[in-house]
Amino acid sequence: MKKSDSNIKKAIKYLNNNECIAIPTETVYGLAGNAYSDKAVSRIYKLKKRPSNNPLIAHYYSLNELKKDCEIDKNFIRLYKKFCPGPISFVLKLKKTSKISKIITNNSNSIAVRFPSHPLSRQLLKKINYPLAAPSANISTSISPVSKQDVFDEFGSKLKFILDGGSSKIGLESTIINLIGKPYILRLGGINSRLIYKLINQLENKSKKKIKIKVPGISKLHYSPGIPVRLNAKKNFQNEAYILIKKRKKINKNYFYISKTSNLNEAAKNLYRTLRKIKKNGYKKIAIEKIPNINIGEAINDRILRASKK
Ligand code: TXA
Ligand code: MG
Repeated sequence: MKKSDSNIKKAIKYLNNNECIAIPTETVYGLAGNAYSDKAVSRIYKLKKRPSNNPLIAHYYSLNELKKDCEIDKNFIRLYKKFCPGPISFVLKLKKTSKISKIITNNSNSIAVRFPSHPLSRQLLKKINYPLAAPSANISTSISPVSKQDVFDEFGSKLKFILDGGSSKIGLESTIINLIGKPYILRLGGINSRLIYKLINQLENKSKKKIKIKVPGISKLHYSPGIPVRLNAKKNFQNEAYILIKKRKKINKNYFYISKTSNLNEAAKNLYRTLRKIKKNGYKKIAIEKIPNINIGEAINDRILRASKK
């Protein structure tokens, strides 16, 4: 048996026992549990120290499974066909007959769902007969993990099992779109908002206007590395770690490249890993070079802006 197969078997054993485990996805690692089980879901909240009013995303293998729990419409189908499986989450209406644990949704009749594309998470979801509730596998408000080691640094031995899927390809969380009523984007992420807008022309660009903050997760205090972050920095001060996206002539031990060629996808992939590394190295302050606000740069800027808030 392949090692990944035996690890998936192990993962299923834990999940069937209502334990929570970490799973790899293409965006970030998730802290996963049976979304139909109050017991499993409570464990996620407890381990993550997540406020109970902040709902979780349910992860599905395919449309057939999702239809048992959620109402879908034309906009959903259009986006699903184009982007799934992939880094997009949808807020949908729950069906009355849905078996989703009420704890996930904080008793509301809507739920965020997504279809991760990472091959291991797909293999796992295919083999179980329930969706997986999975917030990012970090302690509440801290940075999302993009590798097995990151997850271990968050939870240590408190977490029984981490399914190792290498480092997350995208490195930032999924884009979240609310499809109840007029569609609008709740969180920028792995899929560029412009591509979504193109597809749904009636989409309101509320993320650019002031959107009403409905859940703590989209509040400013999030994605925090725990030390001050200074944005659009043209240079760094002596004691600051300096995050850069293009190569400088000078060599400096405080320079941390997330890309050397202004490649924004590469920068997104390396951002969280680099923030963690800087903190581990004992720096007390971070400066970040200006990041172009195009394509996934939009989501990078969203995250570093939040990281810069006290
Ligand atoms: O890429 C991702 O989405 C990752 C991977 C693991 O799938 N998951 C993730 O989950 O980022 P989490 O829980 O860390 O962030 C989900 C965000 C939170 O800000 C939460 O408040 C919001 O989605 N959310 C969840 N359910 C919602 C709902 N029904 N309505 C509005 N916002 C919701
Ligand atoms: Mg999170």
